[in-house]
Amino acid sequence: MPAHERMHPSGRLRFRASARARGSLPRHVADRSAVPWDSIVPAHAGQIEIEVGCGKGTFLAEAARQQPEVFFVGIEASPSYAAQSEHRLTDRGCTNAAVVADDGRLFFADTVPPGSVAKVHIYHPDPWPKRRHRKRRLFDRQFARLVATALAPGGKLLVATDNTRYFGEILATLGSAERLRRSRETELHYGDEVAGVAFGPTNFSQKYRAEERPRHRAVYARTERASIRETSMTQAENSAWTRVAALDGVPTDEGLPVECEGKELVLFRTDDGIACLEDSCPHRGAALSEGKVRDGEIICPWHGWRFVLDSGECSTLPGSMPAKTFTVRVESNEIFVKLG
Ligand SMILES: C[S@@+](CC[C@H](N)C(=O)[O-])C[C@H]1O[C@@H](n2cnc3c(N)ncnc32)[C@H](O)[C@@H]1O
Ligand code: FES
Repeated sequence: MPAHERMHPSGRLRFRASARARGSLPRHVADRSAVPWDSIVPAHAGQIEIEVGCGKGTFLAEAARQQPEVFFVGIEASPSYAAQSEHRLTDRGCTNAAVVADDGRLFFADTVPPGSVAKVHIYHPDPWPKRRHRKRRLFDRQFARLVATALAPGGKLLVATDNTRYFGEILATLGSAERLRRSRETELHYGDEVAGVAFGPTNFSQKYRAEERPRHRAVYARTERASIRETSMTQAENSAWTRVAALDGVPTDEGLPVECEGKELVLFRTDDGIACLEDSCPHRGAALSEGKVRDGEIICPWHGWRFVLDSGECSTLPGSMPAKTFTVRVESNEIFVKLG
């Protein structure tokens, strides 16, 4: 259990300093240590659902009102939003829900018992579009593993976002989690939104609907399947190739940043399939994943150098400064990269 102060991912909203001073704290605040699970969830609770990043509690309160047989836990990194969520629950007389001011990643790591949760809802997570802020994002491989561990067998993770790029990255991350599998059937069942049950309404979903922004939704189910690598490749092949993404997570007109053994890479769709480049421009190191794709080339976002996606060749300075490329293999819906 970490002994440091648990902060909002932006690092600005310190739980102690700012929220306490404003006097706007919910009952449960994870400060230097986690809040014990049994002080949040009553012993007699039946089905448990968690919403991460519940904001001001619009979905949480509606869900708690509509499904009194379920116990809901809202996790919100901002203590003042967490307090607003709690007020909303109190105003509606909902006793089957609790809010915890905590970082969702730490909450799953320190607090949630394995196999205890029926559904995890994550709606409009902050996309942190700047490369230097990516570490603040909720979704990474470790978080996907933690959620898979927390879910009961057959449990579901529901995700919604308006951000096409982040959605692709979320699909890639979740697609590589061994015990999660996308459930199109459940997505079809829920459709765009089932109020108080799936995908909304949330403050952001209502705002984005009014602005006619894209509405991406995905449901992943906890399974017991063996990993693709275990079932379809020998051990020697296994060590050479690393699964980095699901094919359907790669957007058509922009790159998908992925990580492979600590290296930052970017995947692109090309006429021939998938190309993989180091996500660092050989000129001054800009993230190529933040560039624009035009005519089979990626244009560096900083100084506009162009690189051929398939070969990495720099067409701005032919014969010099190629972008580093890596070998890719696509097997059904899975993308594997060989670094060596
Ligand atoms: C864009 S808002 C969306 C709020 C709400 N889900 C909605 O759709 O209206 C993202 C929320 O997630 C919270 N958040 C960001 N990172 C978080 C984390 N690591 N753990 C818990 N909450 C987080 C933010 O404070 C913010 O309230
Ligand atoms: S950093 Fe890419 S062109 Fe300069």
